[in-house]
Amino acid sequence: MTSPHLSADGVEAAKLAALEAISTAPDLEALKEVKINHVGDKSPVAKFSQELGSLDASARAEFGKIVGQAKSAIATAFEARSKVLEAQRDERVLIEERVDVSIPARRTPQGGLHPLTILTNEICDLFLGMGYRVAEGPELEAEWLNFDALNIPADHPARTMQDTFFIEPLDSHLVLRTHTSPVQVRTMLQEKPPIYVICPGRTYRADELDATHTPVFSQVEGLVIDKGITMADLKGTLDHFARSIFGPDVKTRLRSSFFPFTEPSAEVDFYFNGRWIEWGGCGMVNPKVLRAAGIDPDVYSGFAFGMGLERTLMVRHGITDMHDIVEGDTRFAQGFGTGGR
Ligand code: FA5
Ligand code: MG
Repeated sequence: MTSPHLSADGVEAAKLAALEAISTAPDLEALKEVKINHVGDKSPVAKFSQELGSLDASARAEFGKIVGQAKSAIATAFEARSKVLEAQRDERVLIEERVDVSIPARRTPQGGLHPLTILTNEICDLFLGMGYRVAEGPELEAEWLNFDALNIPADHPARTMQDTFFIEPLDSHLVLRTHTSPVQVRTMLQEKPPIYVICPGRTYRADELDATHTPVFSQVEGLVIDKGITMADLKGTLDHFARSIFGPDVKTRLRSSFFPFTEPSAEVDFYFNGRWIEWGGCGMVNPKVLRAAGIDPDVYSGFAFGMGLERTLMVRHGITDMHDIVEGDTRFAQGFGTGGR
C-alpha cells in the first residue's frame, strides 16, 4: 500500500476521514474497525508520523506539529465516541437481560395422597386414639380364610352373596378377597383376647362400575374381642365413628340383616342424596367363628364391622358418582387440595 505523500492537505484529509468514521460508528464492534483503520499503528496518521523521521529539522518541526494535532484530535474524538457507545451498550444490556420477577414461576407438581388414603389414615388415627391397633392382610387370600373360617361353607348360599374373583388354577383355592373380614380370622388365630383392631384394605368383587359400586373398592374392618362386650358397645362405637367422620348431623340407621360370621347381624345405612345407602355390615361375632379361632365363647364375646370407604368418601364430600373416585383423574384429587398442582 503506498501511503499518501506527507502534506498538510493529506494530514487534514486523513483527520477528517477519521473523525467522520468515528462519529458514524454505530456500535463498539464498528468502532473497533475504525480504530484499526484510522487510529492505530497502520492508520494514515500513524504512517505520516513515521515519515517525519525522514524530514529535515525545520520541516520535521512544522509537520510534527500538524500531525501531532491531527493525532490528538482523532484520539479525543475516539475516546468520546467510545464512552457514548459503551453507555448505550450498558443501557441496552440492562433492558435485554432484565429479570422479570412478575413472570409466573414454573411449578413442578408435588404429588399428594389420594383422598381415599387421607380418609383411611384419618379412620386409623381415630381408632388408634381409642386403643385399637392397625392390622393388615393380603389381597390375594386363601378361600378358606375369606369364606370357610367365617362360617361360609362351599355349599352355603351366602357364598354367592359376594361375586368372587377366583384365581386359576382353581385348586390353588386362592381368591381376591371379597371383604376385609378374613383379617378378623388372621388376627384371632395369632392373638389372644383382648383384641381391638382396625383393618383397612382393598377388596374385590365382580360388580359392575356404577354410581355406587366398583369392582375394586376399599373396606375398613373393626374387630373387638373382650370380656362382656355387647351390642351396645357396637352401637356406641359406630355412632362415635360416624359422628367423627361425617359430623354430628349425619343420619344413620341400623337395619337387621344376616352375615354367617355374626349373630345377630345388622347393616348400617346413611341418608345421602335423598335416599338411604348401605355403609357397611356389622354384628356380634358368631360363637362358631370364635370357637374355630380357639377363643372360648363362654368367656369372651365381641363385635365386628366392615364399612365401604368409597361410600364414606362420597357421603362426606358430596360426591355423587363413584366414577370420580376410581377413574384416577388428578383434577378430582386436586379438589381436595392434594394430588399435585
Ligand atoms: C361385608 O363385606 C361384610 N364383610 C361386612 C361385615 C363385617 C359384616 C364384619 C359383619 C361383620 P357387605 O357385602 O355388605 O358386607 O359389604 C360391606 C360394605 O362394603 C357395603 O356396605 C359397601 O359400603 C361396601 N361395598 C360392597 N360392595 C361394594 C362395591 N362393589 N363397591 C363399593 N363399595 C362396596
Ligand atoms: Mg351388604
